[in-house]
Amino acid sequence: MKDVNILSIETSCDETSIAIVKNGCEVVALTILTQMDTHANFGGVVPEIASRMHTENITMVLEETLRKANMKVEDCDAIAVTYTPGLLGSLLVGIEFAKVLSYVYKKPLIKVNHLVGHIYANKIDNKLKFPCLALVISGGHTELIKMTGDYEFELLGETQDDAIGEAFDKVARVIGLPYPGGPNIEKLAKEGKRSYNLPHPVNDETYNFSYSGLKSSVINLVNNEKQRGHEINKADLACSFQTTAVEELTRKLELALKNTGIKNVIIAGGVSANKYLRGEIAKLCEKYDATLNLPEFIYCTDNAAMIGAAAYPLYLKGEFADLDLNAESTSSIC
Ligand code: KG4
Ligand code: ZN
Repeated sequence: MKDVNILSIETSCDETSIAIVKNGCEVVALTILTQMDTHANFGGVVPEIASRMHTENITMVLEETLRKANMKVEDCDAIAVTYTPGLLGSLLVGIEFAKVLSYVYKKPLIKVNHLVGHIYANKIDNKLKFPCLALVISGGHTELIKMTGDYEFELLGETQDDAIGEAFDKVARVIGLPYPGGPNIEKLAKEGKRSYNLPHPVNDETYNFSYSGLKSSVINLVNNEKQRGHEINKADLACSFQTTAVEELTRKLELALKNTGIKNVIIAGGVSANKYLRGEIAKLCEKYDATLNLPEFIYCTDNAAMIGAAAYPLYLKGEFADLDLNAESTSSIC
């Protein structure tokens, strides 16, 4: 069969990224331009600045990707783009850019859900096996999904309030760590021990998660200690929070491993870059004799290669989008 090269575009948040992915699993070229340093000045992503920066940089990111691949747009078979979920203005920059390329170069347009993209990051280098349990853990989502085949999703459980990444970011902010909070909590937690007793998010037998209670308990603890004039041990608090947050994930995943008997596990989304979390999930998988697939670090956080990987099954099925494609700020996979 002829090779299929998909030019894929991701601009849902604060990374302008374009990739060329061959046959859904081989990254020919990938460029990621992060705006992180700009948004760090504001303590979080400023949507208006994000979309403006995407507009300024996207052509350059395309040129850089084509240069690395030594290819032209004409050499690609389709244009894929993230259309949901994300910041509307940011998504629209990528979508309009993709539509122009699709129209001018007469290439089919493929719309990709960002969360599906995070899952298909595991398809790069062909690591996704079915049936599997997928833990999607990002700044906006915490979902446990059962997959029986390509694009066959069953939502087992999800967060009832905050996403795990959101909790990492808020806790980081309250203890005075810069944006993005997740990696900074992870770094600090290494220097601490679990000395603070924090409440467990959802202690029930469902597959659902909750992170707002845990987040609030950290905020209250910090405020109370401040009022009493006590010093907080930031490293211990980071470690206590991270351990409790991860324990809730492993508890629910363990329930699913027990109840479904599924032997393949994947983790996806920005929080899956956390090494402590990876270690704990690996231990759990070992206990249940399950195979754990982890995306390479570069494919954990937002990138266009995962969008190209997720677009490939849609290309094979001929599921193409029209030029009236619009952005959707919220959505779920299932
Ligand atoms: O998937 P992603 O890049 O963007 C969304 O789709 O949301 O995920 C971003 C989230 C942020 O909340 C960030 O703090 C978190 O992933 N994150 C981490 C780590 N690296 C990124 N959280 C914990 N530990 C990390 N090492
Ligand atoms: Zn993401």
